[in-house]
Amino acid sequence: MEEQVKSIFSTISKRYEFANSVLSFGRDRYWRQMTVEKLALKGGEKVLDVCTGTGEMAFLLSEKLRKGGEVVGVDFCEEMLQSAQEKARKIGRKNLFFKKANALNLPFSSGSFDAVTIAFGLRNLTDRKKGLKELRRILKSQGKLAVLDFSPPSSGVTGKIHQFYLKKIVPLLGGLVTGKKEAYSYLAASIENFPSSEELKKIILASGFSSVSVYKFTFGAVSLHLALV
Ligand SMILES: C[S@@+](CC[C@H](N)C(=O)[O-])C[C@H]1O[C@@H](n2cnc3c(N)ncnc32)[C@H](O)[C@@H]1O
Repeated sequence: MEEQVKSIFSTISKRYEFANSVLSFGRDRYWRQMTVEKLALKGGEKVLDVCTGTGEMAFLLSEKLRKGGEVVGVDFCEEMLQSAQEKARKIGRKNLFFKKANALNLPFSSGSFDAVTIAFGLRNLTDRKKGLKELRRILKSQGKLAVLDFSPPSSGVTGKIHQFYLKKIVPLLGGLVTGKKEAYSYLAASIENFPSSEELKKIILASGFSSVSVYKFTFGAVSLHLALV
């Protein structure tokens, strides 16, 4: 399963960001910006962005911490990381580093980060509970975790429209933009099978966090879970 996930992202890495903008009507940047805002970083923190992909969240974090602090982005897909590293070289960010690593077995000592972000990544982990416990392990005792991800369609009319968009439009548009329709059928299926924001809150609490605040964006299609150690 992990190999399948890696291979999906390796085939779409070049068009990944453009496809995100199209499919989210340009909202994806706003969702990540809100995540950075809600983390309320003061400066000087060490932040890890897990499942960093092409590094969009990591770049926003490094911008926020430009006067002090450090951001590390990790991902297990070589091609996605290459895109992130190319951008970092062009921009010349001094406080941003990328590293190849599996979210389920991170190469960092316990208690080494002030904050951890995982944007549109938890859904892709083969063992989410193990992943959350691993994120808890590397956080300091006052640490914060931000989980940004899509939520499955709710019941009712809005849910039906959401379901139609995921099942029909996402594979069609995603396929047109990237030439990889199957990657976007996977995306739609992974969203439908993801826990609701209420269920996810319980899972995060059961992974060793003391409190979780939930913020919903774009009619509840996306949720941010902000957890404290
Ligand atoms: C949907 S992308 C999200 C990228 C980025 N965070 C964003 O906001 O656009 C999911 C990423 O998770 C990575 N990923 C999935 N499972 C992983 C794992 N076990 N360890 C590390 N990275 C993983 C994939 O390679 C992919 O780059």
